[in-house]
Amino acid sequence: MLETLSARLKEARRVTVLTGAGVSAASGVPTFRGAGGLWRSFRAEDLATPEAFARDPALVWEWYEWRRATIASCQPNAAHDVLAQWTRDSKTCTVITQNVDDLHIRAGTQRLVRLHGSIWELSCWNRCGTLPWRDERVPLPAQPATCPGCGGLARPGVVWFGESLSPADLNAASTACTCDVFIAAGTSAIVYPAAGLLQQAKMRGAFTAEINVDATPASSLVDMAVKDAAEVVFPQLAEALPRLW
Ligand code: OAD
Repeated sequence: MLETLSARLKEARRVTVLTGAGVSAASGVPTFRGAGGLWRSFRAEDLATPEAFARDPALVWEWYEWRRATIASCQPNAAHDVLAQWTRDSKTCTVITQNVDDLHIRAGTQRLVRLHGSIWELSCWNRCGTLPWRDERVPLPAQPATCPGCGGLARPGVVWFGESLSPADLNAASTACTCDVFIAAGTSAIVYPAAGLLQQAKMRGAFTAEINVDATPASSLVDMAVKDAAEVVFPQLAEALPRLW
């Protein structure tokens, strides 16, 4: 089965990989849905919306501080490493991620498109004009975190439910949908607009594949659904490909 995907990758000139929380699962980062998923124990409406932050910034920050502490102790896994190598080998391999953990960056991925932002970046809640900034301290010195420009509240640099994605990131992701092979890995494929990228790629003629331990709504759409773990499948694909593109 993997031979078909390897053969497609070998022939491909442009390859795009969309990743979700499942790609970081082997690193110890909790996923959102499925067994042990964050949305099984927490309500997104209470923690991941602008309304929730306006209501109770301390509670939202407490949750993000906990996630930052969890992620800080995690390392990139074999899936991150293979994808990073592919983007180093070829400028026509693009990784688009929904993950905010930055493990793709820590693995050395080039030209990463981060659709949902980064948990390691912050921005001013009052939009005082201070540019978003990076702060990897765990815990942050002020609870809740403050903006260095105006002294008001800072917010996590992630996209919450009900918010728009950055037009530049969406544009980069959409451009990458013009490719020969499009792989969706470790995503439940239900959060849009990310979930729509696979359909876009398919409509533009890409060979589409899914790598996921479970079936998702994308499983019946793709040309090939590989029901296995990302940290297992990507190294197998890498081994089958002498050097990419
Ligand atoms: P989900 O938690 O919804 O889905 C993770 C997927 O990974 C599931 O389909 C699992 O079956 C699969 N999975 C788990 N372990 C895996 C492994 N080792 N290898 C391959 N697959 C595995 O995460 P996302 O699809 O990324 O958004 O969620 C999308 C968005 O919803 C997130 O970015 C976040 C969330 O709410 C925001 O916070 C805006």
